[in-house]
Amino acid sequence: MTSDTTATTPTDLAALTSELTSEVAAATDLVALEAVRVAALGKKGRVSALMGRLGSLPADEKKSFGAAVNALKAAVTAALDARKAELETAALDARLATERADVTLPVRLGPVAEGRVHPVSQVLDEVIEIFADMGFAVAEGPDIETDAMNFDMLNIPAEHPARQDHDTFYFSPGADGSRLLLRTHTSPVQIRTMSTQKPPIRIIAPGRVYRCDSDQTHTPMFHQIEGLVIDETTHMGHLKWVLEEFCKAFFEVDAVKMRFRASHFPFTEPSMEVDIGAEAIGKPGQWLEILGCGMVHPNVLRNCGLDPEKYQGFAFGMGLDRLTMLKYGIPDLRAFFSGDLKWLRHYGFGVLDVPTLGGGLSS
Ligand code: PHE
Repeated sequence: MTSDTTATTPTDLAALTSELTSEVAAATDLVALEAVRVAALGKKGRVSALMGRLGSLPADEKKSFGAAVNALKAAVTAALDARKAELETAALDARLATERADVTLPVRLGPVAEGRVHPVSQVLDEVIEIFADMGFAVAEGPDIETDAMNFDMLNIPAEHPARQDHDTFYFSPGADGSRLLLRTHTSPVQIRTMSTQKPPIRIIAPGRVYRCDSDQTHTPMFHQIEGLVIDETTHMGHLKWVLEEFCKAFFEVDAVKMRFRASHFPFTEPSMEVDIGAEAIGKPGQWLEILGCGMVHPNVLRNCGLDPEKYQGFAFGMGLDRLTMLKYGIPDLRAFFSGDLKWLRHYGFGVLDVPTLGGGLSS
């Protein structure tokens, strides 16, 4: 082996150059290469040691020796740089090969897969999506209402028989004798909206409602969606169109048979109940009642400060739980509110399956 501390001749330097460059070539990773660099070019490295000898040389040798060592240094540096680039590329290739991600794999849901959206929440999202697309805004009102909002303003005076139908939950009377109650329908949101907004009005109002009633198809708390449209020329044709479009979109079919039966609500005139042909949900030959509706009664408009000579419109109220049972074939309403995890896993919806008209409501 050439001894660098005594090497002075061009032959010695050439031998050292080839020794160092082959060490560089032999380095198999970046750590080994760095060790080679330090041993050659580091402060205490072999090339630096040669440079250190420069001062002790006779003047006539200094120049050529210095130049030769610099050439050696440049050659080793170039070899180091080239090898470093090679090793870095190889390291990157190795990483890319092991860390490859298949972006076509389905999302791993983890804990999200455990959660379920309740069928009523899913249907609420679906209904809002459909009406939002028709230009309806979502309005809300409180669950605890006054007698006035729930009844009087809706043209249901104290002695009206409709009050008995509603099986109302009342709170204890206050000092002035007035009683708060749990709203028996979402219709008070009509009043709240018409008393505070100027027409044109186009809202839906989803929410919880309460009636003292319980069997397979009735629970003391259930959900309704109210609809209200008020403008100067709004008529029953608009009502029919909106409800038909809603039913087609909601049941995800091209046509739905609908039957409008004359009915009576104190706050609408005329009033109707709407049935759909149950073939929409795979039960041909049957009719299913899904909602009540009608043209807003002039007294109701007047109660809210709207001139019935100028404004008119329609309202409807649907049972959300009933729509859910129909669309998703769920037999017992009481199970909706039992908090049974097994039931929810069976009937619930994936957290990431947000219903949209573009992407599909229920798929
Ligand atoms: N509020 C009525 C009910 O609960 C439904 C309804 C709403 C009817 C709006 C007509 C207009 O039965």
